[in-house]
Amino acid sequence: MKNILLAVTGGIAAYKAIDLTSKLTQAGYDVRVMLTSHAQKFVTALSFQAIGRNPVYTDTFIEENPQEIQHVALGDWADAIIVAPATANTIAKLSTGIADDIVTTTLLATETPKFIVPAMNVHMYENRRTQHNIEVLKEDGYHFIEPGEGFLACGYVAKGRMAEPLDIVSTIDRFATDSEATESTAEAPNHHIESTFAEKRALVTAGPTVEELDPVRYLSNRSSGKMGYLIAEALVERGAQVTLVSGPTHLAVPEGVEIVNTQSAQEMFEAVTERYDDQDIVFKAAAVSDYAPATPLTHKLKKQDGELQVTFTRTPDILKYLGEHKTHQYLVGFAAETQNIDNYAKAKLQRKNADVIIANNVGDRSIGFSSDDNDYTMHFKDQSTAALGKHSKAKLAHLILDKLETRWQ
Ligand code: PMT
Repeated sequence: MKNILLAVTGGIAAYKAIDLTSKLTQAGYDVRVMLTSHAQKFVTALSFQAIGRNPVYTDTFIEENPQEIQHVALGDWADAIIVAPATANTIAKLSTGIADDIVTTTLLATETPKFIVPAMNVHMYENRRTQHNIEVLKEDGYHFIEPGEGFLACGYVAKGRMAEPLDIVSTIDRFATDSEATESTAEAPNHHIESTFAEKRALVTAGPTVEELDPVRYLSNRSSGKMGYLIAEALVERGAQVTLVSGPTHLAVPEGVEIVNTQSAQEMFEAVTERYDDQDIVFKAAAVSDYAPATPLTHKLKKQDGELQVTFTRTPDILKYLGEHKTHQYLVGFAAETQNIDNYAKAKLQRKNADVIIANNVGDRSIGFSSDDNDYTMHFKDQSTAALGKHSKAKLAHLILDKLETRWQ
């Protein structure tokens, strides 16, 4: 998903739409902007043109290309449309199908996903008519990015402020990731009804571990859990019964997944090994600490002069234990490396008796930990490899399962 059509309507928050255009462009989207005549009372077309480096559309009747109908072509071009700020007036027009300017005409003429970002006075927002119009649009499949509370231009401190540009970009990013995953599933040769994962029991580990030093300090790592959660979600889509053993993350648990929350490597070890016998396949995407403070303190460690020495002990190696106690399970390990990636990954495959190791370069900050993207190479037991390339983690979750579909049993 790449093309964003931003519709700006006539509210004081229109100035924030300039920043939104900039942030969307920096995030890699191709942004075209439409302005209503009321929006042009607050901001100029030139600002958006300069920031987005694209033409700006202000009039339904300026048809520069005789080969197309401008408002239809614009809607077709867009992968998503954002109306920000969306006034009560535009929301009302959209909910009743009025098409009397470039924005409402374009939106009425397209089935592209639409995101409405309201911004207005609190009483206007809470007005029964506006709320009714919002409900009508939600029923029609419009997405809403809720206004925040804060100081409004009318002087009230209340709900009605346009959502912050960064939050809007995050919502669009998440939508893009989900659409990419859906497309990937649709393209996948194995629909879940025929998937070899259907009805199978899968356990996925995700996220970091947290090793306490004292009640306020701990040793952890930068894993967000995204990769493991997306694998769990992709497995559910293919019909598997999925248990997700997760370190602390900020992620929503995918629907249909049984979640087991853990903190330390020891807790994760116990949660995984207790359930191991029942599993057909295990994915070890979690970033497990190899060390933990030898004697966690029950009280807060006080400052003292000079250096502080802490003794660390080894934590259990969960993947190695699973490899040693394998009966029928297929074992998918990961390798987070910063150098000699392929060699270290192959060594881990042997040492931990895994069936496949999925290696990534966590030294590259644009992928790996916390990022939405990664670049994996799968190393199989028969010494074959599969380089998956750089993609969103949502797509990689499906590419990994695609590669395993025919091999894992
Ligand atoms: O969570 P994200 O932000 O989406 O990032 C994804 C990721 C970078 C965490 C993921 O791609 C990844 O590489 N996960 C494995 C991280 C890791 O701990 O790698 P490792 O090379 O240190 O360990 C190798 C394997 O042994 C891993 O499967 C790990 O889960 C497992 N292990 C490691 C140590 C330990 N004590 N017990 C283990 O089971």
